[in-house]
Amino acid sequence: MFFQPYKGERPLPHDPFKAIVAPRPIGWISVLDGQGRVNLSPYSFFNAISTKPPLIMFSSEGMKDAISFVAESGEFVCNLATWDLRHEMNLTSAPLPRGESEFGFAGLETAPSQLVKAPRVKRSPAALECKLADIVTLKSHDGQPVDRYMAIGEVIGIYIDDDYITKDGLFDIVKARTIARCGYADYAEVASVFSITRPPGG
Ligand SMILES: Cc1cc2nc3c(=O)[nH]c(=O)nc-3n(C[C@H](O)[C@H](O)[C@H](O)COP(=O)(O)O)c2cc1C
Repeated sequence: MFFQPYKGERPLPHDPFKAIVAPRPIGWISVLDGQGRVNLSPYSFFNAISTKPPLIMFSSEGMKDAISFVAESGEFVCNLATWDLRHEMNLTSAPLPRGESEFGFAGLETAPSQLVKAPRVKRSPAALECKLADIVTLKSHDGQPVDRYMAIGEVIGIYIDDDYITKDGLFDIVKARTIARCGYADYAEVASVFSITRPPGG
C-alpha cells in the first residue's frame, strides 16, 4: 500500500499516521495565563529536541488554551504521564471553558513549582519547569502557514520524586510506568527497558 495524504487520499478506515509515529511521549502541560488562571492538558506532539540547552516542544492543533496561556505567561511545566495517572491525564483533555481548571475537573492536586509560577501535578513522579524560548507557526511543504503552533521551552528546573531514583542515581522509568501515545485510542506503557552502548564516537 502507498498513498499521498496531501492529495486527500485515505485508503484506510482510520488514519494510520499516528500509529506509525508511535509511541509518542506525552507532555502533560500545566500553565498559567496572564491572569494567573491554571490550565492542564496532554500533548503527544511533544518531545525533547536539544540537551544543551535542554529544550522541549509541544505542538497545538489550533490555538488551544495551553499554547495561548504559554504565550501570555512565558513559562510552563511538563508533567510526566504515568500508568497510575492515565485516567486523570485523559480527563484533562476535556475541552473545558478557558480558565476552568482541569486539575479540579480530574481530581488532581497541584504542588508548587520551584522556578516558575505554574504548578506541577503533585502525584506525577517527575516534572520539567520551562521558560518559553519560542512559539513557531508551522507551515506545510508548500510554505503555507497552518493553524498549528509549536511552543519550545527551555527546561530550567527538574523535579523528581526521590522514590523514583535508583541507588545508582538513575530515574526509574519502569517503576514510574511512563505511558506514551500510540494511534487511535491506543497507548503504550513502559514495562521494561534494554540498554545498547553506542559505538565509539557515536
Ligand atoms: C494523550 C493525548 C495527547 C494529545 N496530544 C495533542 C497534541 O499533541 N496536540 C493537540 O493539539 N491536542 C492534543 N490532544 C488533545 C488536547 O489535549 C485537547 O484538545 C485539550 O482539550 C486541549 O486542552 P487546552 O485547550 O486546555 O490546552 C491530546 C489529547 C490526549 C488525550
